[in-house]
Amino acid sequence: LVGIDLPLVQAPIGRAATPRLVAAVSGAGGLGMMALSWTRPERVAGVVEQVRFLTDRPFGVNVILAWDQRARVEAALAAGVRVVSTFWGDPAPFASMCRQAGAVHVHTVGSAADARAAVDAGVNVVVAQGWEAGGHVLGQVASLPLVPAVVDAVDPVPVIAAGGVGDGRGLAAVLALGAAAAWVGTAFVVAEESGAHPSYQDAITTADETSTSYSVLFDGGWTDAPHRTLTTAQVRAWEEAGRPASGARPGEDDVVANEGTRAIRRYAADVPTAGIDGDIGSLPHYAGQSAGLVTTREPAAVIVERISTEAAATLQGAIAPQESGPAVQ
Ligand SMILES: Cc1cc2nc3c(=O)[nH]c(=O)nc-3n(C[C@H](O)[C@H](O)[C@H](O)COP(=O)(O)O)c2cc1C
Repeated sequence: LVGIDLPLVQAPIGRAATPRLVAAVSGAGGLGMMALSWTRPERVAGVVEQVRFLTDRPFGVNVILAWDQRARVEAALAAGVRVVSTFWGDPAPFASMCRQAGAVHVHTVGSAADARAAVDAGVNVVVAQGWEAGGHVLGQVASLPLVPAVVDAVDPVPVIAAGGVGDGRGLAAVLALGAAAAWVGTAFVVAEESGAHPSYQDAITTADETSTSYSVLFDGGWTDAPHRTLTTAQVRAWEEAGRPASGARPGEDDVVANEGTRAIRRYAADVPTAGIDGDIGSLPHYAGQSAGLVTTREPAAVIVERISTEAAATLQGAIAPQESGPAVQ
């Protein structure tokens, strides 16, 4: 549908998705996704141009529908983008904009019912996001039961599996569940081309599968939105304080970091990027349970190659005839 060689999508990972990352993934045969939710609409065409300068392969853009995104999507479509992904809101107005522009509309859901509603609204491809995913998380169903439920609910519409895929075994697993591809976020946060702050990347590569928490803690700029992060000292301090509500948390008004002249307060939702200075550890370290599978910083093309080669070997191994042991009487 979107003209890629490998069933692997670099999930939009907020401001950690840079033009270099998107282009590297698309250039390696996957699909790179540029997250545009915080890009000024008048800058969208320039960002699309930056990716195009680096690759002639297809790529997509993503917006979070927690605020008005029409101007950004209009700008991306006018710049010729042909894959648009939406998350966290009503996809219907964007389905018609994409249809008119001849673009593929991809929408992320956390349940089979939401998947059906998205397809009824005109969405072309559904992303089924399991709750083990990193970043903001829609539902509370894990990928293993969610993906087949969504596949059955929207058949024959293609489904992409998000959440928990950190290596080729995970890609093979979601293909076996009926997904057309995997949507991988955490593993690309640590790519060399990612915009993530190096200390945040190091925290992911040293984490294991038990190192994450699901909470609503980091709500500055995006409220009432559950998310999965590493269980950092900041998360533990809030838990030890009895999980107080927004407005009553320790150090609520502290400025903990800066990006140029912009002050970032404690509990802000900002992804820690390399351009931020200050107490990086107090910012949300978005990561999925797949962090346990992610152990090194590597170029994005190496990550794409490793995951897809390992998936192919896993699937081959799964269907190869087994050595027969001694006959059991
Ligand atoms: C740092 C980070 C930022 C994210 N930002 C976005 C975003 O801007 N838009 C979006 O649709 N999803 C976003 N997500 C969610 C991912 O698209 C995806 O669903 C998730 O990473 C998949 O699970 P995984 O982390 O186990 O691979 C983000 C995830 C992470 C880890």
